[in-house]
Amino acid sequence: MLEEKVKLIYNSAKSAMSAAIDSKSLYDLKVKFIGKSGELSLVMKEMGSLPKEDRPGFGKVVNKYKKELENLYNTCEESLKNKELSEKLAVDTLDLTLPGPHQPVGSVHPIPLVIDEIVDILARLGYSVRTGPLIEKDWYNFEALNIPADHPARDEQDTFYMKPGYVLRTQTSPVQIHTLENESLPLRVLSPGSVFRSDSDISHSPNFHQIEGLLVDKKVSMADLKGTINFFVKEFFDSSIKIRFRPSFFPFTEPSAEVDCSCPICKGKGCRMCKNTGWIEIGGCGLVNPKVLTSAKIDPDQWQGFAFGFGIERMAIIKYGVSDIRLFSDNNSFFLKQFV
Ligand code: DAH
Repeated sequence: MLEEKVKLIYNSAKSAMSAAIDSKSLYDLKVKFIGKSGELSLVMKEMGSLPKEDRPGFGKVVNKYKKELENLYNTCEESLKNKELSEKLAVDTLDLTLPGPHQPVGSVHPIPLVIDEIVDILARLGYSVRTGPLIEKDWYNFEALNIPADHPARDEQDTFYMKPGYVLRTQTSPVQIHTLENESLPLRVLSPGSVFRSDSDISHSPNFHQIEGLLVDKKVSMADLKGTINFFVKEFFDSSIKIRFRPSFFPFTEPSAEVDCSCPICKGKGCRMCKNTGWIEIGGCGLVNPKVLTSAKIDPDQWQGFAFGFGIERMAIIKYGVSDIRLFSDNNSFFLKQFV
C-alpha cells in the first residue's frame, strides 16, 4: 500500500522532471519530491504504520527511488543548464573573453617629480612643506616682501592683476609671510607651487613653478645659506656640481645673491644649455631683509633668517635636458612618459 504510494510519487516525479523546461522549475520539482519536507520524506514518516519487519525493506525501496530521482535531477539539470547557456550566448552580445578597453598607465609628471625630489632632499635638513593661495593679496605678494608700489616687478607686463588688491601670485615668496605670521620660531619651511607671469616664449611660460625655502633662527649667516644650497644642489644633480653666488638684488633679502651651478650637461666646458658659459642660473637667495621680519611682527635684532627660491622648470630642464619649457604643459604623453 505504502510502497504503491512511493511508486506513484516516483513515477510522477520522474515524468515531471523529464518534462521540466528550465532549471528553475526543475529545482522546484526537486524540492517538491525529494527535498527535506518533500513527498518522499513525508512517506518515510508514515513508515511507523508498517509491521516492524517490513520497515527496513521499505526504507531501502524509498532510498532507491530517491537516489534514482537524484540522478535524474542531476542529468536533467546539466542538460537544461547547457541549453540555457547556449540560448543566452546566442542573444548576448557581451563576449567576456574579449580583452577589456585599454587603460593607458600614466607616469609622474616631471614637475611634481622634481618637486618631490627637492622636498625629499631638504626634508633631511628638517624642512617641511607649506602651501599658500594662488590668488594672493597685493600685500603678501609685494608689500610685505618690501616690494614697493613703483617696483618694476609690479609692471602689468609681468603681473596678472585680479580684482583690486589681488594678483595671481608672481612668486612663492608670499608663503614666507603667511608662515612668519602663523608659526612660531625657529622654523624651516619649503613651499613649492605654481606662479604666474604674463610672459610666454621658448624659455618662459605664463604659469610656471617655484620652490621657496625659508629658515628663521638665531645667529643665521650667509655661511649657513651657502652650506644648505651647496648640499641641496649636489644631492639634486650630482656631487661633482660646483656652485657660485653672484651678488644680486631682491627687495626681501639683504644681502642677496643669484645661485649658479656648473653646467651638469657639459660639466662646465660650455654648451648650448649654459650658453657656452659653463654656468647655469637656478635661483635667488639671501638673508631675510629685516624689513620683512618687521612686517611680520618679528624682532630682527633677535631673529635672522635666509631664504631661497628656485625655478622648478629650470631645475627639470637642466637635470633632464629638456629643450622647450612649453613641453611641460603640452600634455604630450610621449614626452611625459620619459620620466619614471
Ligand atoms: N621670488 C624670487 C623670484 O621670483 C626668487 C627668490 C629670490 C626667492 C631670492 C627668494 C629669495 O626667497 O631669497 O624671482
